[in-house]
Amino acid sequence: MRSLDHLFDRNVAWADRKTEQDPTFFRRLSEQQAPQYLWIGCSDSRITANDVLGLDPGEVFVHRNIANIVHTSDMNILAVLEYAIEVLRVRHIIVSGHYGCGGVQRAMAEERGALVDHWLQPLSMFYRKHRPLFDGMGEAPQQLNRLCELNVEMQLRRVAATPIVEGAWLRGVELHLHGWIYGMHDGLLRDLGATVASIEERDALPSIDQRVTQRSEPLSPRRRHALEAFSALGLADMASPPCCMPSLEKPPK
Ligand code: CO
Repeated sequence: MRSLDHLFDRNVAWADRKTEQDPTFFRRLSEQQAPQYLWIGCSDSRITANDVLGLDPGEVFVHRNIANIVHTSDMNILAVLEYAIEVLRVRHIIVSGHYGCGGVQRAMAEERGALVDHWLQPLSMFYRKHRPLFDGMGEAPQQLNRLCELNVEMQLRRVAATPIVEGAWLRGVELHLHGWIYGMHDGLLRDLGATVASIEERDALPSIDQRVTQRSEPLSPRRRHALEAFSALGLADMASPPCCMPSLEKPPK
């Protein structure tokens, strides 16, 4: 099949649907874009920022590449960063990886020489440096997923080290950097808890090498809700076991 007419058909159907829901939608969008977020994610076709975040066109500025790597000499990402911060004035930069990332898996493999291996070089160097620690993290999928998490933290540190971001912070610009990871198996994003909003906060982060030995507790929105619900109960309620829990102590004879 040479023609891609079916995509044009889908495009027309989508544009019609949008206009039906909101007759001024495209007119408003064509006049300006004012996204509050910059998303730096993996090129993987299963993770589209707008869908995952439940946002409309115009609400998130996006940069994607294989394994969401931040090379500080990559003109592409630097231009995106500069435009997002200086022109669009986004307030949040989200570096989001995903579990089971094929790019991250490639960085753990023995293959070398393809262009993609040059692209993944900082990550594969990091993995090889800490290979014994990763080997002790269980089966291959566990090792891969831990490297996916650490990759996000590494790239977040790299974004935070760019003169563009540093310059914005020095000028007093409000700019928050977030490290998240997405689970394709449940459609949920998880916060890796490494949010930074200043040079001081960035410099206070443990080094990425230290992070390998520290356990990470990614926080999904569901867990966040549960924790909020528990904290609303107050500490006094937490001290006693829930009423429906059977007592572990033996009954008195
Ligand atoms: Co990926």
